[in-house]
Amino acid sequence: MISLTWKGWRMPAVVVLMAAVAANAAAAEGRERLSLDRGWLFHLGDIEAPPLVGGEDTYNNAKAGMARGAAADKYDDSSWRKLDLPHDWAVEGGFDPKANMSQGYRQRGAGWYRRNLRVDPSERGRHFELQFDAIATHATVWVNGNVVHRNWSGYNASLIDITPYLRYGDQLNTIAVRADANPMEGWWYEGAGIYRHTWLVKTNAVHVVTDGVHATPLPPKPGKGNDWTIPVEVTLDNSGKQAAAVSVEVTVYDPAGKQVARQVRPARVGVLTQGTVHVPLTVARPALWSLEQTNLYRVVTRVLQDGKAIDETSLQTGFRTIRFDAQQGFFLNGRHVKLQGVCIHQDHAGVGVAVPDAIWEYRLRRLKELGVNAIRFSHNAPAAEVLDMIDRMGFLVMDENRNFNPSPDYMKQLEWMVKRDRHHPGVILWSVFNEEPVQSTEVGYEMARRMSATVKMLDDTRPVTAAMNGGFLTELNVSHAVDVVGANYHVPDYDIFHKAYPNKPFTSSEDTSAFQTREEFHTDKERNVIASYDDDFAEWGNSHRDAWQAIATRPYVAGGFVWTGFDYRGEPTPNTWPSVSSVFGIMDLNGFPKTAYYLHQVQWIKDRPLIHVAPHWNWEGQEGKDIRVMVMANTERVQLLLNGRVIGEQKADPYRMNYFSVPYAAGKLEAVGYNGGQEVVRNSVETTGKAVALQLLPDRAQLAADGRDAMPITVRAVDAQGRVVPMAADEVRFEVTGGGRSIGHGNGDPNSHEDEKGPARKLFHGLAQLIVQSNFDSTDAMTITATAAGLQSARAVVPMVAK
Ligand code: GAL
Repeated sequence: MISLTWKGWRMPAVVVLMAAVAANAAAAEGRERLSLDRGWLFHLGDIEAPPLVGGEDTYNNAKAGMARGAAADKYDDSSWRKLDLPHDWAVEGGFDPKANMSQGYRQRGAGWYRRNLRVDPSERGRHFELQFDAIATHATVWVNGNVVHRNWSGYNASLIDITPYLRYGDQLNTIAVRADANPMEGWWYEGAGIYRHTWLVKTNAVHVVTDGVHATPLPPKPGKGNDWTIPVEVTLDNSGKQAAAVSVEVTVYDPAGKQVARQVRPARVGVLTQGTVHVPLTVARPALWSLEQTNLYRVVTRVLQDGKAIDETSLQTGFRTIRFDAQQGFFLNGRHVKLQGVCIHQDHAGVGVAVPDAIWEYRLRRLKELGVNAIRFSHNAPAAEVLDMIDRMGFLVMDENRNFNPSPDYMKQLEWMVKRDRHHPGVILWSVFNEEPVQSTEVGYEMARRMSATVKMLDDTRPVTAAMNGGFLTELNVSHAVDVVGANYHVPDYDIFHKAYPNKPFTSSEDTSAFQTREEFHTDKERNVIASYDDDFAEWGNSHRDAWQAIATRPYVAGGFVWTGFDYRGEPTPNTWPSVSSVFGIMDLNGFPKTAYYLHQVQWIKDRPLIHVAPHWNWEGQEGKDIRVMVMANTERVQLLLNGRVIGEQKADPYRMNYFSVPYAAGKLEAVGYNGGQEVVRNSVETTGKAVALQLLPDRAQLAADGRDAMPITVRAVDAQGRVVPMAADEVRFEVTGGGRSIGHGNGDPNSHEDEKGPARKLFHGLAQLIVQSNFDSTDAMTITATAAGLQSARAVVPMVAK
């Protein structure tokens, strides 16, 4: 140890022996993207650094690598909790009537994460980027006691070059993260912690930067043949010690994996600089991406030095045209598509915002089954994996920026979103904000104009929009700065605006905001439950039927985005405590359907006959009393029968639905749909007996044994004939053994304060959902057992498949 004396203080000098390594020489080749989700330590609550008292610690505190407290390179974290990411600590805590209502009455606070990282000496010379896909909400990141990053938004990634700070060999590196979830960026449940994936990306010193391949296909000019172009731009970085002469090769593969285009361009990247290379490509007659045929092309970018590939990265894109017409709405590949959209937030039952990718796949599948063709990720960009699924499954997306602010820090958030997402064929609109008070003013206009210009610089192939809730008609407002005007609610303004600006494309960006508690059919203000007949909605909103009718009957309105596809925690409008979740969803927090689901399904699905009937038919004690029955069908006529006796027949009303008043008698209430006088579909509800058994219905037949794959399991109580008992509220205990584990559960009851991670859950109207995830290191089958007092228990065995 050498000691240096300066200004009278003694301080230790850490001597790092630098191996004499020729520039870049020892660098291993190729790119690796390693998951860093495993192996973290977590401390709930903030940790203050010890006070600075003396001259020496105050002096040292100001030096690189000398962060203190839990941010320090060396810190005793041995008592911290071990966990794997993604993680949301807010959902693990209880409910507190004093906590913020919008955040679902959950405490958020701050927390710390730490992890070690060993880097082999053979990797000296490579480039290392640490990536956090999202941290709620304000995050500071240290590596080896150096503050390396601050991110003041819970909705965008932190991409951190950690190369200069690294130590190699047995002296481990430390990563420390302080997540401060006290600040709020929303008025909905935002979760807390490192809730998306974390990665370590290792590349050659000369490499393509993250999101550095801009590959957005452009259609041929009208009448100019069938050749599409991709004016690819590749941004390279060089963290090495020598300027590099390389070539950049971009190859495009069709959906069958056949090469359809290739170009190579030379590039020179100076030391510690970035440079952009243009590699224009032509693709003849590509198979178009559409909602039904999601043809995806792979664009592979390789960086070659002396004939050897030193970096390779790939992305998927699709060829399609989009057009918003001010009179006729939206066109995909020249075909009119009415946007049958939903807005969604990002939390799910049991897991909060730490939603496994596979649960996102389930959520999107539920939306597809509902007939949704467009999603507005409100009010923030989703996880990258979600947009990959969108492209594969066929949805159109309004990708929305969280913070409306053109100052440099915030503009970076917008730039990140556009750069990351511009290759996705599903993305059709960039939204720069949701409901900003300055929207009606010159200030709003000037801010939006700047943000729109930034978007256009990065991607001029998609229109910019903003979700305005008023202010469209002032002399100068945000509608003048965007390409497509988005209206939240304000249905009477639709026509007024269109008349004033007949050449401005227009869409609903948000509508409806109606309330339903799943399977409740009497509004009871005392119990905070709301009937599911589509009668109740926010004062600024509309019923599901009114909103869709307004949109569907106006050709110039490109479409709608129902608030919301799923319930979410927080914003329990119109209720407050003890309600902790919203009831706006077409589905509940688990993705279980409410009446609104069937209502929209018959409005949105045209290619097969559908019919549904509500309410359930368990009205013991109400014999002879009139029950209001709602039949929802996409057929020409509907007929209703009770126990085989015709109650009535009506012409189906695609907007209002059909209503019958039925004196209650136990039995079978059946709705039959007719087209051209022929029966085409029937569906029924039946009075059930009492619950006798539990059932477990896994969503998929097996799980990958990778510690990530997950699925929901429907838990339900059935009568002796196997029919779901709509009143069942039994408490079910779960046991999960073998190669998987429970990661939470829900039941869709907005007033439930049960522990979402505990061993038991009550059924809500006969249903609950258990979310299971595979373990990292086991291919043993997972066995799930569900038991409840007085009911026959259920068991499910889920095989784990090695990956
Ligand atoms: C909108 C807002 C949404 C949600 C909704 C509830 O005005 O954009 O975030 O708050 O109201 O009705």
